[in-house]
Amino acid sequence: MSAEELIAEARAAAANAYAPYSRFRVGAVVVDEDGNHHTGANVENSAYGSTICAEGAAISRAVSGGARRLDTVAVSCLDSEEAVYPCGNCRQLMAEFGVRRVLVDGPGGPREHTLADLLPFGFRIP
Ligand code: THU
Repeated sequence: MSAEELIAEARAAAANAYAPYSRFRVGAVVVDEDGNHHTGANVENSAYGSTICAEGAAISRAVSGGARRLDTVAVSCLDSEEAVYPCGNCRQLMAEFGVRRVLVDGPGGPREHTLADLLPFGFRIP
């Protein structure tokens, strides 16, 4: 599937965001090593710190459905003109399951990065 198609899937997922506090709707799709797609959207909470990011929601769906190795994460935000990059916590979640490729929706089209670019020297238990 092309980067454009994956970004479109992430963007569609953002329609299900529960974001009454920030009004910042984010969607994500994870592609696991078998090629299965798992979507997610941000789920906010009145206790703000309990909010779940779109990427975290998608990764949780993938892993709780049995996937253990993830290949690609695509992310899109409906409420930003600029590219919205995954937060640090989500980058760490991606590292746990071996994500290699991260696609970010941007005004000029999809931006493609490796997770190694986004999370150099990431934590792991040796
Ligand atoms: N958010 C995401 O869903 N993913 C990110 O990578 C960054 C932030 C959400 C969390 C919160 O609901 C809203 O965006 C504003 O921070």
